[in-house]
Amino acid sequence: MISLEAYNLKVACDRDKEISKALRALLSILEREGEGSNMLGWLDLPDTPEPQLDTLTKASIRIRDENDCLVVVGIGGSYLGAKAAIEALPEEASFPVIFAGNSLSPGYHDRLMSSLEGKRFSLCVISKSGTTTEPAIAFRLLRNKLIERHGRKEASKRIIAITDAEKGALRQMARSEQILTFTIPENVGGRFSVLSPVGLFPCAAAGIPVKEMIEGSSAALKKYTAAVKDNIMIRYALTRYLLHKSGTAVEVLSAFHTELHYFCEWWKQLAGESEGKDGKGLFPASAVMTTDLHSLGQLLQQGKRNLLETFLVAERPRRDIVIPEEAENLDNLNYIAGRSLGHINYKAFEGTRAAHIDGGIPVISLQLPSITPASLGELFIFFELSVAVTGRLLKVNPFNQPGVDEYKKRMFKLLGKPGVS
Ligand code: PA5
Repeated sequence: MISLEAYNLKVACDRDKEISKALRALLSILEREGEGSNMLGWLDLPDTPEPQLDTLTKASIRIRDENDCLVVVGIGGSYLGAKAAIEALPEEASFPVIFAGNSLSPGYHDRLMSSLEGKRFSLCVISKSGTTTEPAIAFRLLRNKLIERHGRKEASKRIIAITDAEKGALRQMARSEQILTFTIPENVGGRFSVLSPVGLFPCAAAGIPVKEMIEGSSAALKKYTAAVKDNIMIRYALTRYLLHKSGTAVEVLSAFHTELHYFCEWWKQLAGESEGKDGKGLFPASAVMTTDLHSLGQLLQQGKRNLLETFLVAERPRRDIVIPEEAENLDNLNYIAGRSLGHINYKAFEGTRAAHIDGGIPVISLQLPSITPASLGELFIFFELSVAVTGRLLKVNPFNQPGVDEYKKRMFKLLGKPGVS
């Protein structure tokens, strides 16, 4: 379970009045009231029935048996959760899953197509709307490659589409081409969809035991929806809101594990799209430590004090390496000989946190025993609930993203899309 420590906050997050306000915000979410209440289906995902998980898992086993890799096509909420989990769990994620369609980079897609030469692959295309340009382009290119190799009928057998039950071009194509599909529930938005087939299918294909992830999320949902004063999710959500109110502009999620890089990317979308509207919202930034101490460390230590820093650290690595002793000690490292990298990394976290507290940054420290499928499920729910509560406190609708369409309209006009003026 996650534990939370806080330093330098200087906001009234311990006051009963503020806590009651945050608990009321949580209650409105649990009772499915207020703006965006038709998009709260993500609260049901930790209760996904076992037979549904079995169906996903069975289909994913077939993918692994028949292929050298799976290519997952999707963007935003339709890929970040799966990518986050697969990178965070290298012990489990042994089957290669490659992501495509999350940019318009010609170089990336050209290299991807070349790298697939001589490899057996299946395609998993994920798009709730079924019409998003970036994945639609990648899907066209990759599907054509499958058709060239296997013919149209066989190619369809190598495709899994995850999309809305009724709407969108992808659903129509899946029907006409007899493509196997899984459904994204209508009341689940992209950035809240990691525990739906959107995240679970690519994870299962990679080899992650998705039942454990769901079990972790289910236990977390019970824990972090408790209407009690010491609910740490409430404390975190309230702190973010109060700091924002008192002028904090940026939240930096500082993770002390390279494996959590994409988890931070997932959280950035979750927080940014949920809270960044009506002129409000903390800007979500991230750092992967200790790497980024050598690029962002100076700014974090002594730059403008408009930040909240949230540390995310696991106490025990799943695998570790011990520093060997050397008779000559030419590199002067014998003082840490016999200690593990995990221990040194943890001391780096403690040292960094102490330095940043001295530097005057408000700090929240989230610690978990280790990164496992279950604890990752817990983290997903913890952060989903917290942005939902902060969003409610900010009086924005945390479950829509009207601003995302603005670039699309202009791009479509420039590309001459029919019907767009
Ligand atoms: O969170 C969201 O809603 C977005 O990030 C979407 O997931 C993203 O734009 C992709 O949309 P779609 O799944 O419809 O292709």
